Amino acid sequence: MSFPATRLRRLRSSAAMRSLVRETRLERSALIYPLFICEGEGVRREVSSMPGVFNLSIDEAVKEAEQCAELGLGGLLLFGIPSEKDEQASGAYANDGIVQRAIRAIKANRSTRELLLIADVCLCEYTANGHCGLIEQHHDHYEIANDASLPLIAKTAASLALAGADIVAPSDMMDGRVAAIRRALDEAGKPNTPIMSYASKFASAFYGPFREAADSAPQFGDRRSYQMDGANRREALREIAEDIEEGADMLLMKPAMPYLDIVREARDRFDLPMGAYQVSGEYAMLQAAFAKGWLERERTIVESLLAMRRAGADFIVTYFAKEAAPLL
Ligand code: PBG
Repeated sequence: MSFPATRLRRLRSSAAMRSLVRETRLERSALIYPLFICEGEGVRREVSSMPGVFNLSIDEAVKEAEQCAELGLGGLLLFGIPSEKDEQASGAYANDGIVQRAIRAIKANRSTRELLLIADVCLCEYTANGHCGLIEQHHDHYEIANDASLPLIAKTAASLALAGADIVAPSDMMDGRVAAIRRALDEAGKPNTPIMSYASKFASAFYGPFREAADSAPQFGDRRSYQMDGANRREALREIAEDIEEGADMLLMKPAMPYLDIVREARDRFDLPMGAYQVSGEYAMLQAAFAKGWLERERTIVESLLAMRRAGADFIVTYFAKEAAPLL
């Protein structure tokens, strides 16, 4: 017998051979593209730390949605930038809120009607203080109130579903929000609207550029009393189990690349459809390296997305969705 007996290189000998034995495939329909929607008309304002990502007024968002539908993307994840913020985050659940209007506009357009619209549910873009829940002031300290925030978060989800969102995606990390949202959706006559829960969301420095994009940086303190400690794997699994118990239909894991171990572990343990979110800082980091000529653009994008699928994500939220689609 010749040596070596096992030659794994036999199956790498040509592009056709590699394609035949490829274990993980990326499809356009598995990519979700985030949009940041702002007031005004004809507005297309680039986010400085996220080249190629814009704040878009509703008319521009509709155009963007048309391109995404044409590319065959899986859907859009919508974030709102209201012109006014207040202590009660009233823009989040207003019938004429910025995202509610954007959803109606995209659904009214023939060529984008079928595109899946996922509405992010959180208060941080709408609260004057930039936190994901209400502030409870005590004499010598403040707290991000859990239970008092739930009715507003639930109301936001119901309002977005009534406006036409196909899926609601709570990202606030308050305890009990999935159950509260499920109840509110059912009561609003939306029992068929699924909840995509950001089930394990870590307090991450990789969200930095997003806070510029969504104008949602906390004005004081940080998010560590509600988002998870990056050191905790077992706790992430408890978060997920709890959200499933409360009625989540799908899971979203974030950040993605620095937390792929959690994605894999969640995939092995739970059977719900699951996505990974390649967050703003992951995008900014790659863009910076591309701009310097330090990394090869197209190959790196595809490899980063493939890693998420390989770790077990069924779909991926990524700012590269539009650029990646033609590469697949
Ligand atoms: C809202 C929310 C955030 C992101 C998604 N939803 C910001 C945060 O929690 O600070 C981050 C997404 C990204 O960085 O791309 N709570």
